[in-house]
Amino acid sequence: MDERAIGIWDSGLGGLTVVRAMQARLPGERILYFGDTARVPYGTKGAETVRRFARQNSAFLLEKGVKLMVVACNTASAVALDDLAGRLPVPVVGVIAPGARAAAAATASGIVGVIGTPATIQSGAYAGALQAARGGLSVESRACPLFVPLVEEGWLDHPATRLIAGEYLAPLAASGVDTLVLGCTHYPLLAPLLAEIMGEGVRLVDSAAETAREVARRLAADGLLAPEGAAGGLECFVSDLPLRFRQVGELFLGRRIDAIQLVDFQTKEKV
Ligand code: DGL
Repeated sequence: MDERAIGIWDSGLGGLTVVRAMQARLPGERILYFGDTARVPYGTKGAETVRRFARQNSAFLLEKGVKLMVVACNTASAVALDDLAGRLPVPVVGVIAPGARAAAAATASGIVGVIGTPATIQSGAYAGALQAARGGLSVESRACPLFVPLVEEGWLDHPATRLIAGEYLAPLAASGVDTLVLGCTHYPLLAPLLAEIMGEGVRLVDSAAETAREVARRLAADGLLAPEGAAGGLECFVSDLPLRFRQVGELFLGRRIDAIQLVDFQTKEKV
């Protein structure tokens, strides 16, 4: 049993979809969330930059004494997880491997679709994790850069989103995928629309839900679960307070956000 909090960070507020899934599965755990709202988006940035941000975000939460680190951002998980795992003194869980394992187990046709940010898709991390989970799978990947701003606009079932999603998903639907990995923090909010466009025979895999399952497994295996009956809780930190941040954050979390603290950990760096 371990009363310390779990650290979760993301490039912004999208990782609150992972927090939401974690709170549903592990209600007794205390969660410290950091959203790098000052530097979002990561999905169009270079790998070396994202790795530097990843080290800084992790250091911030480590200083607060977390027992396990969750990298909720798919882009950062894709390009920075190995680097972090070699450096951090606590277990690190990313969102790629859990999503890939669930998809590999679910597919009957052996053809799996993956959608994500340009950086995630370009990294090939999902394709690699799918192959590692089950050799011989065929993977069809597609970057969907317009989904992040559309979700942040709250256009979850808007004609413009429908049109763009139809355009992005057409090649995947045509290639015979029967399983589609939602490889970005923002995409679970589009799940009803994406499911409708892909059609009934296609199963959507939500990396957030799969990651929560993996965290629960890891905590139990390492003896790190919170004591039975613990109250749990959520504390949020952000590096900027963007316009509409509460509205957008609550969209991801699915309920009210009580307290958010603004932090400026970068001032510690030498210029
Ligand atoms: N959190 C990012 C991801 O899951 C999406 C937003 C961004 O580009 O930073 O890939």
